[in-house]
Amino acid sequence: MRKNIVAGNWKMNTTVPEGVALAKEVNEALANYTPKCDVVICVPFTHLCPVCGVIDQAKLGLGAENCADHKSGAYTGEVSAPMVQSTGATYVILGHSERRQYYGETSETLRAKVALALEYGLTPIFCIGEVLEEREKGIQEDVVRDQIVNALFQLDAEQFGKIILAYEPVWAIGTGKTATADQAEEMHAFIRRTIADRYGEKVAQDCSILYGGSCKPSNAAELFAKPDVDGGLIGGASLKCADFMGIVKAFD
Ligand code: PGA
Repeated sequence: MRKNIVAGNWKMNTTVPEGVALAKEVNEALANYTPKCDVVICVPFTHLCPVCGVIDQAKLGLGAENCADHKSGAYTGEVSAPMVQSTGATYVILGHSERRQYYGETSETLRAKVALALEYGLTPIFCIGEVLEEREKGIQEDVVRDQIVNALFQLDAEQFGKIILAYEPVWAIGTGKTATADQAEEMHAFIRRTIADRYGEKVAQDCSILYGGSCKPSNAAELFAKPDVDGGLIGGASLKCADFMGIVKAFD
């Protein structure tokens, strides 16, 4: 069954004490309120253990923002999927455009990361999206299709069923420039058709496809009202409890 999900992506923000305080605040906001969507926070590696200790994961899921493309070994500075799993986290963002752009992540690396995440029981929140130049050329659908095909379509239907997708047009990330609800819906519907062509209608209908890119309380309801938009991956606005909860409440 398709789920509505609002996931925070804290990126490289907050110290451990600040992050623990923010996680506690979100956890408390959810204690006496039942959201109409799953709520997840994805936090820096250093924060996973302490945050895990202060949240109720029955109400607030916890994820990492990345994991390594190897299980263990001589990869100085990397953090593996089994390490993330051992903290108690159950989600991992993979293929974020900032990872692709600044750290050279390719579909090949991402295939390895996805496989390891699934092997260790982590739910990948897999990001896709075109840059401005590609949208201006009108090739955004080809770009997004290639990203999905090259990194995910080697999975069998059961494995693919565990993936959450996040469509994040790169030109909308952190820029204040949101895709319109119609632009988001058009791409989400295209993504769902692409999945249906490969795995069939049932798998496509069950897949949660989140929108990300300058999503905030004031535009979330309009985006989430679209039939193929199943929630959001929230950067900047996930760093303030009130804003993040305002987006969660867009599903009420
Ligand atoms: P933003 O980031 O909400 O700050 O635009 C979204 C993301 O990069 O996941």
